[in-house]
Amino acid sequence: MADSNADSAASSALIERIEPYLEADKIQARTAELGAALSAELPQDSPTVFVCVLNGSFMFYADLLKHITTPTNTAFLAVSSYEGGTKSSGAVRLTLDLTIDIAHRDVVIVEDIVDTGLTMSYLLESLRSRKPRSLRVCTLLHKPARKKIDVPIDHCGFTIDDVFVVGYGLDYDQRYRDLPFIGVMHFDPPA
Ligand code: IMP
Repeated sequence: MADSNADSAASSALIERIEPYLEADKIQARTAELGAALSAELPQDSPTVFVCVLNGSFMFYADLLKHITTPTNTAFLAVSSYEGGTKSSGAVRLTLDLTIDIAHRDVVIVEDIVDTGLTMSYLLESLRSRKPRSLRVCTLLHKPARKKIDVPIDHCGFTIDDVFVVGYGLDYDQRYRDLPFIGVMHFDPPA
């Protein structure tokens, strides 16, 4: 994401282009597998709290939960570390907190992408301090090339290259979240 071309796209009138990267069918098939894998290890006798990390994971979260066969509670929080462009500001802020108590509960954090790991590290610390019985991480994407800090990932949809991706919940400047597929964002000079 340290793509300086990307960050100056607006000011230098570069042309945005989205190159298909992960097709909708492939995402759906992998999401079903993740749901089955999680369902196989979660308790049948008490609801697991599935935490949706807004904004980016809303689409993945909705699709994943359709494949969970054990009891669930839904819960939402929001974090912010990006300020518009394609580079993380590095400072993670909780902008919306959970409204339920997760003490002594089984919890799964559902994230769109683990990139530097800073957001997940922050979330793990914040949620661990609330004393859940268990805490798992399920991320649709993992971009290991950008790793700044190691975080445990229990379930991962796809390991991706060092590219900035949009679609299926992921945005560039709050756009493209509605795409049913994931594409790589390119910024081309005008012809
Ligand atoms: P991290 O803290 O660097 O691991 O970044 C986590 C957050 O950054 C994710 O939840 C996303 O919202 C955002 N992010 C990281 N990489 C990308 C990307 O390639 N496209 C869109 N958003 C990204």
